[in-house]
Amino acid sequence: MANSTNEDYFIVKAQENGVNVIGLTRGKDTRFHHSEKLDKGEVMVVQFTEHTSAVKVRGNAEIITPFGTVETNKD
Ligand code: TRP
Repeated sequence: MANSTNEDYFIVKAQENGVNVIGLTRGKDTRFHHSEKLDKGEVMVVQFTEHTSAVKVRGNAEIITPFGTVETNKD
């Protein structure tokens, strides 16, 4: 993105094996464009870009953002 700041970033920390971090495209066509698999304890530092406007996290993970930390549900 042209005016990228630290607020464009967040961190996904997997709390189990096989967590998926899925990038969704920016623009009028919203679709999956990338799926990254993390094992327990692995961390992915994620940025929103001109290609990526949303991210879906599937599986148990801690998500650390500029707004605070959230966890996906554990069940
Ligand atoms: N090629 C992608 C992009 O530049 C890489 C990427 C950035 C990505 N953020 C992501 C992939 C979040 C998955 C999830 O937009």
